[in-house]
Amino acid sequence: MQSTAGSSGSRNDNLSGKRIILGISGGIAAYKAAYIASALTQRGADVHVVLTQHGLMFVGPATFWGITRNPVITGLFDQSADAEIKHVSLSESADLLLIAPATANIIGKLANGIADDMLTTMALVVRCPIVIAPAMNANMYSNPIVVTNIERLRQRGCVIIDPEEGHLACGSEGRGRLADPDKIVRVVEEILLGVTRDYAGLTVVVTAGPTQEPIDPVRFISNRSSGKMGYAIAECAARRGARVILVSGPTDLEVPNGVEIVKVRTAREMFEAVDKVANSADVLICAAAPADFVPAEASSEKIKKGSRLTLELDQAVDILGEVGKRKGRTILVGFAAETSDLERNAEEKLVAKNLDLIVANDVSQGNDVFGSDTNEVTLISRTGDLIRWPRMSKREVAEGILNYVRDHFLEARS
Ligand SMILES: Cc1cc2nc3c(=O)[nH]c(=O)nc-3n(C[C@H](O)[C@H](O)[C@H](O)COP(=O)(O)O)c2cc1C
Repeated sequence: MQSTAGSSGSRNDNLSGKRIILGISGGIAAYKAAYIASALTQRGADVHVVLTQHGLMFVGPATFWGITRNPVITGLFDQSADAEIKHVSLSESADLLLIAPATANIIGKLANGIADDMLTTMALVVRCPIVIAPAMNANMYSNPIVVTNIERLRQRGCVIIDPEEGHLACGSEGRGRLADPDKIVRVVEEILLGVTRDYAGLTVVVTAGPTQEPIDPVRFISNRSSGKMGYAIAECAARRGARVILVSGPTDLEVPNGVEIVKVRTAREMFEAVDKVANSADVLICAAAPADFVPAEASSEKIKKGSRLTLELDQAVDILGEVGKRKGRTILVGFAAETSDLERNAEEKLVAKNLDLIVANDVSQGNDVFGSDTNEVTLISRTGDLIRWPRMSKREVAEGILNYVRDHFLEARS
């Protein structure tokens, strides 16, 4: 959590007129909900807090009444005699239901339609977006039943703000720590301020990063790809509502929120991972830089130092070519990194690999692409478009590619 002088502490009433129900369940991270309630209230939102009975063991209603100036709901039967049926009236008028922190218990109940307290009852009544920020012990979070429940909620359209890795209150390290409260506020803002969810219901598979091809147990051949372009695409597609599967070679990048990650090392592993999911993809965007050549044989022993070593290299599996051969209805987008004759080479690759769209970038010396946060690309489409974009952030390039695919292929397909 950042200080209140950070982004969420600024005076900015962009959420004015928005009614948010903030559900708080019984986990240690409940204290962070005070910061979230405050940040949303400062942005002008009308925040109504619902505390579960176990949530009450961690934080008190006075804090939230003080922050939001609204009565705090703590039980299904706690309304006064003349009150409306609150769980219905409040739920029907809500613009968003945020549950932060969400315990394994509340997630299990939500995923199975159980409504035995005020919060879970309201969750069944609301027609607004539901945002869930899980927080729990790492073993609980990786328990298959919890994984299934979260997946079920995701598939039903709930926005899940994945927990982070780090120190957990139980004393251990691992994934399960409530996502940064500033990030939670940001996601709520994005949803309420109408970020387009034009990829909802679609599956987007993205490849990213380099591959590592072993020479021996300690050495490998790789390249300078950072993975930033593919990760930016994955992040944007997930934010726009897609189910995103990111097949990633080794990188140091953080997995974007809501993205399913498949980590691979070699080009062969990347091909196998892509092949498994390619059929289910509406859009497959190959932004990775897998090896073109791999050592013909990897030594099982560390190769001893010597005056000279000759490596024999084989051609690596052609991932784009293989998926292009059997792509069916999947919209296939490739990248071409070229050092000369950019557009001609990219056009040839578009045809040879049966792509729908190719994003060409000039990686010749002095053109800072690898590892950079910006990119200058040319889009060439099988429909004949050739569009040169100026240098932009990789995020803007990602949004632009998704816009192009939506406008030229997805809309035509439906
Ligand atoms: C000290 C303490 C900390 C807890 N922290 C968590 C937590 O972070 N996440 C979680 O899922 N459950 C946690 N639990 C367990 C929940 O409180 C328990 O499952 C409870 O039934 C949740 O109720 P609720 O979901 O209705 O709020 C904790 C329990 C205790 C005693």
